[in-house]
Amino acid sequence: MPIRIAHAVDQAPHAGAKRLFVKSYGCQMNVYDGIRLADLMKPQGYALVEEAAGADLIVLNTCHIREKADDKLFSDLGRYKRLAPQAILAVGGCTGQALGAQIFQQQPAVKIVFGPQTIQRLPALLSKALRGERAIDTDFPELEKFDALPTPGAYGASAFVTIQEGCDKFCTYCVVPYTRGAEISRPADDILAEVQALAAQGVKDVTLLGQNVNAYEHAGVGLAELCRVVGDVPGIARVRFTTSHPNNTTPELIAAFAPPAQGGNPKLMPYFHLPVQAGSDSVLARMNRNHTVQSYLDIIAAVRAVRPDVAISGDFIVGFPGETEEEFQQTLALAAHVGYVGAYSFAYSPRPGTPAADLPDQLDEITKKNRLAALQAVLDASTAAACATFVGQVLDVLVEGPAKEANQLRGRSPHNLAVNFSYGAADPAALVGQLVQVQITTSTPRSLVGSLSV
Ligand code: 5AD
Ligand code: SF4
Repeated sequence: MPIRIAHAVDQAPHAGAKRLFVKSYGCQMNVYDGIRLADLMKPQGYALVEEAAGADLIVLNTCHIREKADDKLFSDLGRYKRLAPQAILAVGGCTGQALGAQIFQQQPAVKIVFGPQTIQRLPALLSKALRGERAIDTDFPELEKFDALPTPGAYGASAFVTIQEGCDKFCTYCVVPYTRGAEISRPADDILAEVQALAAQGVKDVTLLGQNVNAYEHAGVGLAELCRVVGDVPGIARVRFTTSHPNNTTPELIAAFAPPAQGGNPKLMPYFHLPVQAGSDSVLARMNRNHTVQSYLDIIAAVRAVRPDVAISGDFIVGFPGETEEEFQQTLALAAHVGYVGAYSFAYSPRPGTPAADLPDQLDEITKKNRLAALQAVLDASTAAACATFVGQVLDVLVEGPAKEANQLRGRSPHNLAVNFSYGAADPAALVGQLVQVQITTSTPRSLVGSLSV
């Protein structure tokens, strides 16, 4: 699930501090890695800055999930090289892992290459680069990064915490098993310590991250129990998790969505991101998803049985090799049927080294583009309809900061929808980072609008 979050920057880098510019592409796990990378470089005298021009070190924390992400990296590299000719250019993240030393060949200005599992080794790589040598490290040392990185800094009231890395599912389109390696769950105690440190800095809302978090398991602790203990940390008001594969949705996890009176987890928000990818069993089989459309719908029905208002979100891929018009129509029908509150959809992008890239019947770009537009129209309508259902309700909103409109703040609803609201005579600065009640008066196609409820 791609999102864009600018890394919080140090407000006033002290004189003499070296300047670090980090750009994260792709998923939230990369955003989390980018934040930890900045935390790691702080004791090395690097302050995070907002502009690449003038930076001493530029780290591009890359995504390899679709071809477009790679293209963007190489165009950005050219731009940053011109903008900051003095800077050491480093490529980390999933493209660093996948392409390795090839990146030096494609863009000789790059001095450092590393992968998602070796960010903790950046200081050593940097020393080497400062000596004028090319530095590369694309190992997969299990969990070393979590042990080696400092306690995370908090940037606002919401935080991501990676609980699991890698993926063992091997969907035929996907590079993740190759870029992030095998599925490994972090010990619950380590995760708890991190959440406690974040809560002590004012974090109230935690999203537990992994490629397949519902398969989380460490020393007998599964995701449902982990959500419970994380929610019990003093100060934590909201827990979410993302992203999930349908097959690992346990009865315990479903039960955690129930109201507290029925034994559910009071901190677990009614939001479930459950990618399906396609609405046709034959496409799902070619994708090696190991589930059917019906088994996916059964899970949604089971979650709705305990929590009828749960917001379901998902991911779709259109134009998978061999996708017929009929198979695509089945995807459209599923997208219309589920009632998604939000969903992400992508045109299939063949990734070198994945099985689907070698399948016959690759679809042409125009067909993929047309199918994507048709699916997005259905999903947009679904999101708009879901937003409209909240009009008239009073919702708990975690305030993130000023909205674009004057005299308004923005925040998130329990269902993870963006809410913009007017705050009347209240002091806006005092509300940021707090949970407030907002009377929803109108909705837009993707968000809610209201006013502070007093
Ligand atoms: N092409 C297009 N979309 C992809 N995704 C993963 N691999 C590909 C690919 N090769 C999408 C899936 C996944 C999301 C993170 O990215 O929908 O859930
Ligand atoms: Fe992109 Fe996947 Fe890597 Fe996240 S894990 S950055 S989505 S390739």
